[in-house]
Amino acid sequence: MENIKGMKFKTLISERRIKSRVKELVKEIAEDSHGKELIVIGILKGSFIFLSDLLRLFYLYDMHPSLGFITIESYGSAKVSSGKLKMLRDITTDIENKWVLLVDDILDTGRTLAFAKEYFLKRKPASLKTCVFLDKPERRVNQFKADYVGFEIPDKFVVGYGMDYDNLFRELPYIAVLLDEEEKFRYKKTI
Ligand code: IMP
Ligand code: MG
Repeated sequence: MENIKGMKFKTLISERRIKSRVKELVKEIAEDSHGKELIVIGILKGSFIFLSDLLRLFYLYDMHPSLGFITIESYGSAKVSSGKLKMLRDITTDIENKWVLLVDDILDTGRTLAFAKEYFLKRKPASLKTCVFLDKPERRVNQFKADYVGFEIPDKFVVGYGMDYDNLFRELPYIAVLLDEEEKFRYKKTI
């Protein structure tokens, strides 16, 4: 257990396990999309560390994906994440007939990725797959399933490896569970 900024953390996934799982994920993705012109789209901010690790392994498979980032904003009721979603920053690349991989840090209720997938499907990509580092299936409010999942985790609020609590702790190289006041943390998540 660790104490950072007066909060208690317990490591859930170590740096070593993260590294080896990311390698496996890239292998899976590369096998499925080999020879295609892949466009990787990350959802800011949470995905940026996972995405940079993923992206830097594609050269091993002689793949050279292009990269874009989007920002999705939730508005409406701020307390519970049932607010509506809107695209705040879009990509500028044309994805029609291209192979697209949407990447996010964590699949929670499923609202963000369901929204993003529907949004990009309208542009008629040849393929649109989704990849998340973590998946909390218990929290889902829809039927959303990601094509590639790093780890399934229980219904706990986690930080590290890009994921934040109140915009903090994204820099941790491992995934940790916040032990105090979990209920409160849950609703402070930022996309
Ligand atoms: P969803 O729309 O409920 O699936 O939420 C997705 C977004 O909520 C993710 O992209 C994360 O940024 C954030 N999120 C969900 N669960 C957690 C968590 O346990 N820690 C930090 N952020 C989270
Ligand atoms: Mg996010």
